[in-house]
Amino acid sequence: MNSFNYKNGKLLVEDVNVSDIAEKIKTPFYCYSLNHLKEQYIRLDESINLEDYEICFSIKSNSNQSIIKTFSKLGSGADVVSIGELKRALKAGIPSKKIVFSGVGKTSEEIRFAIQSDILMFNVESISELKKISKESEYLNVQSNISLRINPDISAGGNEKISTGKAQDKFGIDWKSAIESYDFAANLSGIKIIGIDFHIGSQINQIKPFEESLDLLIGIIGELRKKGHEIKVFDVGGGLGVQYHPEEKPLDINKYGKLLSQKLGALKCKIVIEPGRFLTANSAILVTKIIYVKNTDKNNFLIVDAAMNDFIRPTLYGSYHQIITINEDKKGNLSKYDIVGPVCETGDYFAKKIPIGNVEEEDLLAIKSVGAYGSVLSSNYNTRASINEILVSNDKFEIIRDRIEDEEIISRDKVPDWI
Ligand SMILES: Cc1ncc(COP(=O)(O)O)c(C=O)c1O
Repeated sequence: MNSFNYKNGKLLVEDVNVSDIAEKIKTPFYCYSLNHLKEQYIRLDESINLEDYEICFSIKSNSNQSIIKTFSKLGSGADVVSIGELKRALKAGIPSKKIVFSGVGKTSEEIRFAIQSDILMFNVESISELKKISKESEYLNVQSNISLRINPDISAGGNEKISTGKAQDKFGIDWKSAIESYDFAANLSGIKIIGIDFHIGSQINQIKPFEESLDLLIGIIGELRKKGHEIKVFDVGGGLGVQYHPEEKPLDINKYGKLLSQKLGALKCKIVIEPGRFLTANSAILVTKIIYVKNTDKNNFLIVDAAMNDFIRPTLYGSYHQIITINEDKKGNLSKYDIVGPVCETGDYFAKKIPIGNVEEEDLLAIKSVGAYGSVLSSNYNTRASINEILVSNDKFEIIRDRIEDEEIISRDKVPDWI
């Protein structure tokens, strides 16, 4: 299962030595394992025992064309939240009828493009959005398939920045107004109700919040059907948790699959699942070089060439990422270090006071579990280049995203001659 292992003291990604990649590719870089991506998809797929379901990879977690294509070739659909993501999904070969469009702020342009692309459905998050889809559909003389995203007011636990299913969150339609919202939708021209949807947050390691949400929504589906609304698709969102810390107990995927299969088997709906993190998080490491070792009275620092602009999760969410040395034998005498980047922010760190072996300047480190919400959240802050992404398959590797050098970033600025 684990595609990142030491062999003869060297860290390998599948069968490729990380230091061999670093000899050819400038650090820092993201490095993915194709086998891991495929295995995660297959694990989820095999855990589900339903007649009609679609795994719609949530592209926001990782939007690289090679990653999307990997899942597309395994039969995946896509969950998108912008016109850009929709274009990425289509370009990677995902059939339009396997694409759902979520998000609270779809613009008219995005709605029109999605209608013209003939997607499976819009997951609608407000009455105002319903009206906008109705207007655009009328204009294009079509009926648009919609589901309403229901906010079940259920806590997903964990980090509040990635919790989306509480009443105070901006997402979805309050479950108490679900029935009247469907009644309203049914009377709008250009709108065809086909489904219902929820997504309560990310990195959920417990079954309970999923179970509670399913129960609530199954009840609502019953009410809606009694009133004559046709619910043929039930989108149960994403949020499946993974292991970041060696002692963290991730979501039991077989229990999750069983829950879906048992609760939804008799519902006579196509079930849509929108996993992001589960498929991608542990598929990648971020390889970075130590520029300086700096010891002060209060702290020891390893200043590395990756920074918060390349990978922002630790400082944005306070999230833990295991950091390991490329050479296992350097584990010897452990000292505690803060691993920090060159960006001029105190928040530019990857880990604090973690034990690392006898490392020296120029040594390589690997930040683990960076495949989800990693490169997609990167920026060019401090006019730092966008870094390479590498995909490994068995004993070969290839660049799957080119660096964007600082000169190119600077060249996008325009200077009016009246300055
Ligand atoms: C609507 C929706 N679906 C799916 C996902 C994917 O979540 P995860 O990566 O936790 O599976 C998200 C993430 O924010 C989301 O907002």
